[in-house]
Amino acid sequence: MKTLILAGGLGTRLRPLSCTRPKLLFPIANRPIIDLILERLGACGVKEVVLAVNFLADVLEQTCGKSKYGMQLHYSRDKLLDSERTYSPEKALGTGGPVKQAEELLGRDAPFFVLNGDILTDADYLEILNAHKNNNSIATIALRRVADPSRYGTVEITKENRIRKFVEKPIRGAPSNLINAGVYVFEPDIFNFIPTGKRCSIEKDVFPNLATEGLLFGHEITDLWVDIGKPADLIEANRLWLEAHEEAARHFVDTKVDRNVEIKSKVSIGNGVAIGCGSVIGPNVSLGKSVHVGEGVHIKDSIVFPSTYISDLATIEGAIIGEFVRLGKKARIRRGCLIGDNVKIKSHVSLSQNVKVCPSKIISKSVPSSECIM
Ligand code: GTP
Repeated sequence: MKTLILAGGLGTRLRPLSCTRPKLLFPIANRPIIDLILERLGACGVKEVVLAVNFLADVLEQTCGKSKYGMQLHYSRDKLLDSERTYSPEKALGTGGPVKQAEELLGRDAPFFVLNGDILTDADYLEILNAHKNNNSIATIALRRVADPSRYGTVEITKENRIRKFVEKPIRGAPSNLINAGVYVFEPDIFNFIPTGKRCSIEKDVFPNLATEGLLFGHEITDLWVDIGKPADLIEANRLWLEAHEEAARHFVDTKVDRNVEIKSKVSIGNGVAIGCGSVIGPNVSLGKSVHVGEGVHIKDSIVFPSTYISDLATIEGAIIGEFVRLGKKARIRRGCLIGDNVKIKSHVSLSQNVKVCPSKIISKSVPSSECIM
């Protein structure tokens, strides 16, 4: 069984952190998202994976290499990369075009999985495949029940699980609260429904046509499922992952955690992390490799990327902090803040909610309202 992972999006909602790293390399509990996805696929017996890459393709290719978790990895680049391999958005293939482009790698002999690379799930892929085999259809979409379907693609479905209608991000009147979970099984005939070399959305341009022809089925999954496309989602994904996976909250090697530190479960502490006396860490915190946390620091609901330095008495709540950031003494970072790599935030500086700071900026004064500092 082969799998294609859509991995080439711009990740605009996670800027500025996604300017310098592909979304699939963002860490959850100190492991890149792509590793969590690949590990699960390997456990379900997948042997070959095609990564459909585009924006920051080289970074992903160099980081992931040619094999992982017993699987062979191939890379299919959107034909938007010019000879210098620079990004050219008008040629991006979207979520459908990359499937067609990988036709040769995926082959026409057997069904295959397609996954959105920004979905984390513990779903049993084989169960979805089995459901697909019973459907006698071209495509089966994993469906997840959510309380508020308005930001997703929802479906109208028959008792036999045939999808009648596919409504992308309904503003009102969603046909159900079953949403497209971004995990698909496709028969090779899907290639006949996708144009060659053209930008195409699998959700908007392909699924509605399949539904009209009665060739689209759904299969509800009830396992852990989370979309990591937005900052708050990423923090929530970290929380859910830490809670669902005992081993994810283990403490790593060479850490120096003062015995007067309070760790509020669940927390992931990377290799070489140091935490000073009187600090309170957690719940729902991931501290990347070699992060330094001073004394009396408070961190909750946050992800801190590797090699960042947090000075004494700083507080971070509900934020994502990039690599090699320096937070001064008593700095305060509030909910929704995204701090780019190499940023310096001086002592006593306080950022209001939802402030975004672009890489390498030096912030010397407090920021009282939400804004993007470029
Ligand atoms: P936003 O810009 O924040 O919406 O993120 P995104 O660019 O990742 O878009 P979206 O969440 O819709 O993408 C869903 C999945 O498809 C993600 O795993 C993306 O990496 C991937 N994807 C989106 N657009 C493209 C594309 O043009 N080419 C390729 N190869 N993958 C894509």
